[in-house]
Amino acid sequence: MKFSLEARDAFSKARAGTVTTAHGEIQTPIFMPVGTAGTVKAVHQRELKDDIKAQIILGNTYHLYLRPGLDVLEKAGGLHKFIGWDGPILTDSGGYQVYSLSKVRKIKEEGVTFRSHIDGSKHLFTPEIAMDIQRTIGADIIMAFDECTPYPCDYRYAARSIQMTHRWLKRCCERVDSTEPKYGYEQTLFPIVQGSVYKDLRVKSAEFIASMGREGNAIGGLSVGEPAEEMYGMTEVVCDILPEEKPRYLMGVGTPINILENIALGVDMFDCVMPTRNARNGMLFTKNGIINIGNKKWADDLSPIEADSDLFADQVYSKAYLRHLMHSKEMLGAQIATLHNLNFYLWLVKEARERIINGTFYEWKNKMVQVLGQKL
Ligand code: GUN
Repeated sequence: MKFSLEARDAFSKARAGTVTTAHGEIQTPIFMPVGTAGTVKAVHQRELKDDIKAQIILGNTYHLYLRPGLDVLEKAGGLHKFIGWDGPILTDSGGYQVYSLSKVRKIKEEGVTFRSHIDGSKHLFTPEIAMDIQRTIGADIIMAFDECTPYPCDYRYAARSIQMTHRWLKRCCERVDSTEPKYGYEQTLFPIVQGSVYKDLRVKSAEFIASMGREGNAIGGLSVGEPAEEMYGMTEVVCDILPEEKPRYLMGVGTPINILENIALGVDMFDCVMPTRNARNGMLFTKNGIINIGNKKWADDLSPIEADSDLFADQVYSKAYLRHLMHSKEMLGAQIATLHNLNFYLWLVKEARERIINGTFYEWKNKMVQVLGQKL
């Protein structure tokens, strides 16, 4: 993997760069649509590629390991081939889904035992197992196995937790460095900074993660219920320590406003279920603010979903039609709403990138933060 920085904003810490993986380039800042179980829900690969021009998608170790399982993925020749996506893929390690989804888990130095949320079967994830699974899935960027602390989290727990996450990271690095990719192309391991909302712990964690010298770094444990200002405070502290010349990935964040503010603090990569999950509940993100398409006020609004969008679905379908589809629980409703929201998120980061390059990011960002919070 390679990362080159092309521009820096003069009025904030925003940057524009390019990540090069074995499956293609990613122009940063970037938003990565979440494809938990090997599908960005409700979206065909052709739409991802040609309509919304996604540059990288996410998969999840936890889900893919449980279903379809490693035998099928290995037989297919990895996740890219299995799902018919030849662009870059990043997989999360399971070190978050185990905590948020599975039942009856036990965290020990060795790793985490948990019961599947699907059938209750018992499993063990260790740092080594999480790396081996990600070798079999075959993503271009793979994530370290960490503990994502909940919010709130008391200081003593958070302090002990980062020590364990750091020991786990060393084990992840040893495993990745002593094994080969299974499908002939390079896989890059990103470590994850933790430390809850405690600045000194974040500093300690960021310094340790930076000292490991991997090719990219991530920030975890945020957007777990803390106030936005607290999140920005942590991102700022961490970005000031993580190396300039490597991409920074803020995990699981967030709203369009969160994304703009964190770009301004020096984050390059984002993922979040919000555009996809909220779409299925009728929440649309637009350039003028947030629409709940289920509201009666849209019942006879025959204007396009987003008038000045370049997305086919935004121009051809009206708000009233989309509302009708959602009300009738027609599958097409979820498909159109998801495409719309992902297209909006990808427009947002592309616009941010162009404005970082042409020097108009900061003023635009401040204006957009005002607009995007509005409920229409
Ligand atoms: N996704 C969102 N936050 C986190 C985190 O802290 N760790 C991991 N592994 N994944 C995440």
